[in-house]
Amino acid sequence: MKNFVFVILLLFLYSTDCRKITRKVRNKSQLTSRYHGGGKIVGGQDASYGQFPYQAALIWGMGDGWTGIFYCGGSLINKDWVVTAAHCCSGDEESPENVGVVLGNHQLFQNDAEQQTIVASRVIIHEDFDYYTLENDICLIKLSQPAQLGPKVDKIDLPETNDPEIEAGVLCTVSGWGNTEENGSLSDILQYVDVPVVGDLEYNVAYSGEIVETMLCAGETGKDSCQGDSGGPLACASGAGGKKVLTGIVSWGEGCARPDRPGVYTQTRYFRDWIDQTIEDNEMFLMCQNLSAFHFCF
Ligand code: ARG
Repeated sequence: MKNFVFVILLLFLYSTDCRKITRKVRNKSQLTSRYHGGGKIVGGQDASYGQFPYQAALIWGMGDGWTGIFYCGGSLINKDWVVTAAHCCSGDEESPENVGVVLGNHQLFQNDAEQQTIVASRVIIHEDFDYYTLENDICLIKLSQPAQLGPKVDKIDLPETNDPEIEAGVLCTVSGWGNTEENGSLSDILQYVDVPVVGDLEYNVAYSGEIVETMLCAGETGKDSCQGDSGGPLACASGAGGKKVLTGIVSWGEGCARPDRPGVYTQTRYFRDWIDQTIEDNEMFLMCQNLSAFHFCF
């Protein structure tokens, strides 16, 4: 009887979750279900090995004794943390050990010389992430052991909170293994494409007001990120040195590379404080776990 109640409960939870997903897909057509991999960079080209050393591939199902399924991108921001989209993390906070982070990866379906696969130890979704509007689409993944940094695996800097908004027309680079065309298939070799940032007026007309302050649009007909690129990096040159920083996180779009439907990205500069604070809180949490006698922990 107990088992029966449990099964009914599971079925109920499962069906509510599916409703949620259907609604999300209806709202934002072409969102990738993690089980279907999603889309590849459209209109891009092969990266060279190590060209985007901060690029991570997220693999789900690690704990089951098999190699898992690729479902999203991410960016290494320091040796212990990867930032990705919140919609790539749903359901993983309670079981981070299912999530594998592959660094130094170039060919998705083969082992690369300097590839490192590290299991997650924590998954932290932004507390104000909205599954329907995709506001605050950002998530942090802590690696269970630090990444070994080198020429093929390295961090990307984050923008500062007070960095100015990137101007319309500036070319930024988005990379990933996602679909190479709408409804297409994943790319084996990491792809990248340069996409222009699209101005506020233009994009809010295209998306009938769905773009909030913390989102940024970039892309043009034929050049875009696509399903499977979610969570991955949009890197733009900033400041006088022109060094590329992690300006955006692939979040959503209507189809891929359609006219007047640019890709929509989470703007990381609005989340700089959240990222720093979340990492700091986590260090404190770990220290308190180890030294439970510390009075300031409680
Ligand atoms: N949500 C998609 C994913 O899960 C990313 C979609 C990006 N779409 C776009 N047109 N730029 O992979």
